Amino acid sequence: MDSIRIQGGIALQGKVRIQGSKNASLPVLAATLLVREGSLIRNCPRIADVHSMISLLRSLGCSVHWQKTGIFVDSAKVTKGEMPREAVTGMRSSLCLLGALIGRCGEVTMEYPGGCVIGERPIDLHLSALRQMGVEFMEKEGQLRASADALHGACICLPFPSVGATENIILAGVAAEGETVLEGAAREPEIQTLCRYLSCCGACIEGAGSSRIVIRGGRRLQGTKFWVPSDRIVAGTYLLGCIGVGGEIFLEQAPAEEMEAVLLTAEEMGGRVCRSREGIYVQAPERPLPVKLITAPYPGFPTDLQSVVLAAAARGRGCTGIEETIFENRFRIVGELKKMGACIEQTDSSHVKVWGVKALQGARVQARELRGGAALVVAGLMAEGESFVGGCPYIYRGYENICRDFRELGARVTSV
Ligand code: EPZ
Repeated sequence: MDSIRIQGGIALQGKVRIQGSKNASLPVLAATLLVREGSLIRNCPRIADVHSMISLLRSLGCSVHWQKTGIFVDSAKVTKGEMPREAVTGMRSSLCLLGALIGRCGEVTMEYPGGCVIGERPIDLHLSALRQMGVEFMEKEGQLRASADALHGACICLPFPSVGATENIILAGVAAEGETVLEGAAREPEIQTLCRYLSCCGACIEGAGSSRIVIRGGRRLQGTKFWVPSDRIVAGTYLLGCIGVGGEIFLEQAPAEEMEAVLLTAEEMGGRVCRSREGIYVQAPERPLPVKLITAPYPGFPTDLQSVVLAAAARGRGCTGIEETIFENRFRIVGELKKMGACIEQTDSSHVKVWGVKALQGARVQARELRGGAALVVAGLMAEGESFVGGCPYIYRGYENICRDFRELGARVTSV
């Protein structure tokens, strides 16, 4: 079942509930290592990356169980900071365990998390920040060994608002003695969710969501019950997908307050967007209007939705220009979209131009990473005739059930 078959050319109609946030769930699950009691983390999505994180936590000595209302994690018995090789190299987001384990165990042994097709994914910002907090790093036989005899607060300035580095600094700062002041922090909603969880457990953190975060560490944390917000990237995938495919849909529990830039782009592409406490309604134009899109750190347009705009613009009017400023290789679906008849020119590693065509043709295409794969499913929904998207395990890392969700929106999609 690693392909998706799509009968395209059908406008979307209906409503779908948006799953819990992958990129919020993972750091919160990592943060439970700092709480020597049980926490119940609710609304975590049932996706491959969450299952991998659960396996990692269990390998470290945590007791972890899916319950009806969420994931119960008790890290009371955690003693070692050694992470299994396959878990780390297979899932980059295990990197946020670095800060949590340093805080809990004072030492970590892990594989260097590799790059992936969207970029080399270095970790220099993580390492330089944690060194300032008293962490020493050694590399041995491809493994990263970190240790801290006395983790302490520091004044840290990030030259780039790295989401993962911000998460690791917060996690280590909560356990460190003294105060950590972080300038240049990432402002993503996932950072705010992580800080909200830690504060519910008793941590003292100010400035979450701003570029200056202050953490007063060394406090004992208590377990809590916590609700993970809905996934803004999944909601944006379906919303911008509808702009490309056509129709009108309602996205239940979509976090509109975290999606300003996405909603603005949807309207610039000709969509009619209405938000409410219950979610987001969107009505698509007959064909998307051209836009000039530049991805940026939050609150700018999220890089994770760039591929979906690229796909939608392939059936749009006029010429859309896209500049990718976050990752160095995030236009991998250009070749696949061209198989469907898209007219795209990649001028360099950061820029593409898309001249919209009246209709795309169904084709066999291949996903090579998570968000590009989701965008290819959107392209298949837009195209006339039948399409097959291969490499779907990439997509299942972040989408609970993309076929079920699009079927609820009236699409003819099956995994095969
Ligand atoms: C998080 O990745 C997300 N992953 C990504 O989502 C998202 O695209 C990214 O943030 C940007 O918003 C999770 O939350 C699990 P970064 P992360 O550190 O933390 C460079 C998805 O599809 N950089 O903000 O790895 C890096 O190379 C994924 O859900 C350094 O140079 O992103 C990249 O160019 C894909 N040195 C840029 O910063 C470092 O030490 C952004 O990286 C760290 C990062």
